[in-house]
Amino acid sequence: MSSTASTSATAEKADAGAAHAAGGHGGTVATPALARLSPPLKGTVRVPGDKSVSHRSLIFGTLAVGETRISGLLEGEDVLNTARACAALGASVERLGEGEWRVNGVGVGGLTQPEAPLDFGNAGTGSRLMMGVVAGNPITATFDGDASLRRRPMRRILDPLEKMGVEVVEAAEGGRLPLTLKGPRDLVPITYESPVASAQIKSAVLLAGLGAPGETVLIEKEASRDHTERMLTHFGADVRVEPFGEHGRKVTLRGRPELKPAPIRVPADPSSAAFPLVAALIVPGSDIVIEGVMTNPLRTGLFITLKEMGASIDYVNERIEGGESVADLHVRYTGRLAGVDVPAERAPSMIDEYPVLAVAAAFAQGATRMNGLSELRVKESDRLAAVADGLAAIGVTHRIEGDDLIVEGAGSVVGGGTVATHMDHRIAMSFLVAGLAAANPVKVDDVAFIATSFPSFLPLMEKLGAVIEVQPSEVSR
Ligand code: S3P
Repeated sequence: MSSTASTSATAEKADAGAAHAAGGHGGTVATPALARLSPPLKGTVRVPGDKSVSHRSLIFGTLAVGETRISGLLEGEDVLNTARACAALGASVERLGEGEWRVNGVGVGGLTQPEAPLDFGNAGTGSRLMMGVVAGNPITATFDGDASLRRRPMRRILDPLEKMGVEVVEAAEGGRLPLTLKGPRDLVPITYESPVASAQIKSAVLLAGLGAPGETVLIEKEASRDHTERMLTHFGADVRVEPFGEHGRKVTLRGRPELKPAPIRVPADPSSAAFPLVAALIVPGSDIVIEGVMTNPLRTGLFITLKEMGASIDYVNERIEGGESVADLHVRYTGRLAGVDVPAERAPSMIDEYPVLAVAAAFAQGATRMNGLSELRVKESDRLAAVADGLAAIGVTHRIEGDDLIVEGAGSVVGGGTVATHMDHRIAMSFLVAGLAAANPVKVDDVAFIATSFPSFLPLMEKLGAVIEVQPSEVSR
């Protein structure tokens, strides 16, 4: 990162976070927290910028020639790691103020060889998208991350990149991190049908395709979030999106464009809004507004599902900001949540929201069946197992049938247990939310990873009236 005082300060903060996770002296440091039955949540809040858009804004700024200004960037550790990677690859990345960043890009194909391994911490999106970025340059780069990221599958990215001519110089077992990629002098454009509905696979292929001559085509059978396609258009690339089959899309990109810098205003993250939103639906008497939340239909599966369950969520002041639809969300407790069946084809539009939906389902009356959750097994943790264990810890009846999770809602939750977060921010936040309405306090074993995506989670929840006590850190060996 270009070394202005402010960026190095931000970098130091993130380094401290990494040391926290690793536990400075060989042990593991964990910071537990306890969420207690809370009074009605009230007030108006704004959650941080969208994580997906934030990663992409830094990446596109790097691939454009000239200066890109970003406002509302999420300054979570995942995104800061992407900022550092962009800087290590030759871009000038500067923090100008809170959420205000400036990137001076090097252009498609203009990256420089990084001097050290690129460390993406906990971030699947940052690492996978940057593999696509590196692919289009004749450089060698090593990708690494924390223990959670080292466990996650990367073959799904390496397969298409190898077809395009990228060499996997070395990789840990099963194609996992740490791994080293070497971009060829000339990348081959491909037509790739993604085996999984994953915006990360789609984006890696399209970002690589920027460096290939001719047309790169990506087909997905279920549409995943489309921020990469939107940003390609915003930066002047020639990209075509067509329907494919019943729910899918075909994206065609013409390679080797000169991307033109374009200002980006990052909307508030619907995946972060999900936590105060569900909290307001389960804490009796709550009435809150969450401002400026992105309502891109490929991200709003949770809101649709909760409305089907009987939740009161109104979109107020709907508008377009920075090319994305946004609205203020007015959320009111009604005490009338009922179990529903969530279709598998909705999964891509709410893939990160199942842990907190499981919490809402626990407080609903009747069974909620969430179908087709296989992708949850390969997130920051095995989220299907982590959610099931968390529900067991707080006394919620549930079962897993194949890739489906069934939660038996009883209208109330006993609580009282300790939930293991497994280095997963969304597990930590989901079960803290559960504790705000459970009869007995809910403890989560480590809140440190919340900083990867939602550094202001605790003060924001406190502002709404939530009672969450952070406990002294514990070192285990
Ligand atoms: C993301 C895509 C999703 C999501 C992740 C962010 C993105 O992953 O889980 O948090 O920004 O492209 P998959 O596309 O692999 O499902």
